[in-house]
Amino acid sequence: MVCLGNICRSPLAHGIMETLAKKQGLDWEVDSAGTGNWHVGEPPDRRSIRTARAHGIDISGQVCRLFRVSDFDTYDHIFVMDKNNLSDMLAMTRNKEDEQKVSLLLGEKIVPDPYYDDTLFEPVFNMIEQGCKEIIKDLS
Ligand code: 4NP
Repeated sequence: MVCLGNICRSPLAHGIMETLAKKQGLDWEVDSAGTGNWHVGEPPDRRSIRTARAHGIDISGQVCRLFRVSDFDTYDHIFVMDKNNLSDMLAMTRNKEDEQKVSLLLGEKIVPDPYYDDTLFEPVFNMIEQGCKEIIKDLS
C-alpha cells in the first residue's frame, strides 16, 4: 500500500487489508510505504490512528518508511492511492514485470489526500475498506 506521506492513507490501507485478509483466513503479507520522506520513522497520523481505532483496527504500531525498489521483488501487488502516487511509482519501475504490479487501490478512482482536511478521514477509511474488499474478492 503506497501513498505520498505513509502516515494517512496507506497506513489505513495496510491495517484494513491485513485485518480483512486475516478474517478471510488468507496468509497475505501486507505492508505500506510512502514516496515522500518527510515522516520516515514516525507513527501514522493521529487522525488515521483514531479513525482506524473507531473501526476496531489498531495501526498505532506502524512505522513510516519510504518505498524502496526492492519492494517490487518482495510484493506481488503495489496498490497506490492517487494518480501522483501512480506516476511516482511507475517512474521507479525497472521493467514490465514491476510495472504490472502497480495499480490504483480503487481501480479507476482515487483515494483523496486527507492531510489538510480532517473531515476526509472517515470517508477515506470507507473508500479504502471497500477497495480492499474488492481486491480480496478478485485475488482470493
Ligand atoms: P498521505 O498524506 O500521503 O495519505 O500519508 C500526506 C501526509 C503528509 C504529507 C502529505 C500527504 N506531507 O506533505 O507531509
